[in-house]
Amino acid sequence: MRMTDIPYVMAIERRVFPLAWTSGIYRRELAANPWSHYLVLRSTASDYPPLLAYGGVWRFDQAGHIATIATHPDYTGRKLGGYMLIHLLLKAYEIGCTEATLEVRASNTAAQALYVRYGFEIVGRRRRYYSNDHEDALIMTRPTLEPAPLLQELADIETELCQIWSQSAVNLSTSNAI
Ligand SMILES: CC(C)(COP(=O)(O)OP(=O)(O)OC[C@H]1O[C@@H](n2cnc3c(N)ncnc32)[C@H](O)[C@@H]1OP(=O)(O)O)[C@@H](O)C(=O)NCCC(=O)NCCS
Repeated sequence: MRMTDIPYVMAIERRVFPLAWTSGIYRRELAANPWSHYLVLRSTASDYPPLLAYGGVWRFDQAGHIATIATHPDYTGRKLGGYMLIHLLLKAYEIGCTEATLEVRASNTAAQALYVRYGFEIVGRRRRYYSNDHEDALIMTRPTLEPAPLLQELADIETELCQIWSQSAVNLSTSNAI
């Protein structure tokens, strides 16, 4: 993610999150948080929005914390969230993490299903975690970030993506050098 992506990130963020981050939060994350890494999934085709998905991971000691993840709301259900999540997990491995963790709203069953699909399990609950409506957060972790299974998951989802999308429409901007 670059500074110039932030308006497009915000266009998605405001539509999908009840407690949206501000553009200032993203600017600070990109400029001043050395422990964070943000990825975007760009479209290069003119009939798609410029960004189709984005996400971020923070390193806390050995844990990669999935700070945020979202798919453009007009393009959900087409494997982009899974693709972004696997890239975030690969990034977490690349920066030295051995496990992944996150918080998710108790009511957000779509996101929970995504995380379970990619190896996370519920390990706890933070009561009244969200400041706007005091909804509980579930804590989920993926206990390992071994590269071989992750790369296999990436290969599998790329096969599925190719069946859904023409390759020219999407292009992940950050490569993962493992
Ligand atoms: C959660 C989110 C990122 C999923 O993105 P997506 O592009 O639709 O996800 P995918 O198409 O890659 O789905 C991957 C898996 O997630 C699960 N899943 C995703 N959406 C689901 C839904 N609505 N219901 C049930 N399962 C769902 C499925 O297991 C799916 O695997 P499958 O395709 O093999 O069945 C997207 O819904 C989103 O942006 N939500 C708003 C933001 C948000 O809540 N972020 C998470 C904050 S913790």
